[in-house]
Amino acid sequence: MIVLGIESSCDETGLALYDTQRGLRAHALHTQAAMHAEYGGVVPELASRDHIRRVVPLTRTVLHEAGITATELDAIAYTRGPGLAGALLVGAAYANALAAALRVPAVGVHHLEGHLLSPLLATPRPDFPFAALLVSGGHTQLMRVDGVGRYRMLGETLDDAAGEAFDKTAQLLGLGYPGGPALARLAEHGQAYRYTLPRPMLASGDLDFSFSGLKTAVLTLARKQGEDARADIAAAFQVAVVDVLAGKCLAALRATGLDTLVVAGGVGANRALRARLDAEAALHGHRVFYPPLELCTDNGAMIAYAGAQRLAAGATAADGRFDVRPRWALEDLGG
Ligand code: KG4
Ligand code: ZN
Repeated sequence: MIVLGIESSCDETGLALYDTQRGLRAHALHTQAAMHAEYGGVVPELASRDHIRRVVPLTRTVLHEAGITATELDAIAYTRGPGLAGALLVGAAYANALAAALRVPAVGVHHLEGHLLSPLLATPRPDFPFAALLVSGGHTQLMRVDGVGRYRMLGETLDDAAGEAFDKTAQLLGLGYPGGPALARLAEHGQAYRYTLPRPMLASGDLDFSFSGLKTAVLTLARKQGEDARADIAAAFQVAVVDVLAGKCLAALRATGLDTLVVAGGVGANRALRARLDAEAALHGHRVFYPPLELCTDNGAMIAYAGAQRLAAGATAADGRFDVRPRWALEDLGG
């Protein structure tokens, strides 16, 4: 079965072809980051318009890359939510129109399920069950994953997501938007222990997170210190976030008795986080899995893959009747 995956929930248009026999055949991405940069964040209306411009050419790109024609597609998977309503509608309408024309099923996929299953696109791949840390710009959650569609929330952020904290802190330090990767680069040139920032909720005894206080602590520190302290502040921020994320991951493994951790979402690309998790895993005899680096942030491959799993599990097509779900909890997803 060859599935075309379409991601359009935010500011990335991602298209990909997943072949259930041969694996990922092609993926292509257009990021709108530069377009939104001058506004300091994603402008929903501009995002929708740009998805419309990109989705057809990117479809052609992946078909060409895989050397197949549209008539060889067996199904279309698209991100149904959560995300920006207008942006989601572009992908949903396009997917359903294409599916109707080709007489193949269209399947709506949960964006976070895409992230959650994306480490299964790497080799070696983890076996179920595992604990999963989902760290993106919009979400920070720890889940127990027993199989496709079998997700139980263990803990989540009470305020900002980890990626959001990276982006907002980057903005405070004058690094522009989206600042996460820029902040991580700056942190590599700084001393992590010149300043000490709080580790919010590290000792809370549960598996929840909070990152908004950290941002305020950075603001206070940045105001007091001069321009030349920026790299050290970035490093202090990064190590604080890494301490909290790694500490909660270990606590989740302890609480569930699982020995496998999967990390997904944009912040999963962070090198300091990966180095820490790898070191802790080696120390405690756990195994950690990540998606391929280019599939950490939003992409069509994870949607194609999750769609293929959903179809294999008996998901039915939208039948031309589709809706998007801008707000949609992963736990509401049936098996
Ligand atoms: O998963 P994703 O592409 O989109 C959402 O669904 O949110 O994640 C994007 C987030 C942004 O907040 C971005 O700043 C952050 O992931 N991010 C990083 C890194 N790369 C991306 N944060 C820290 N370090 C990185 N290397
Ligand atoms: Zn995402």
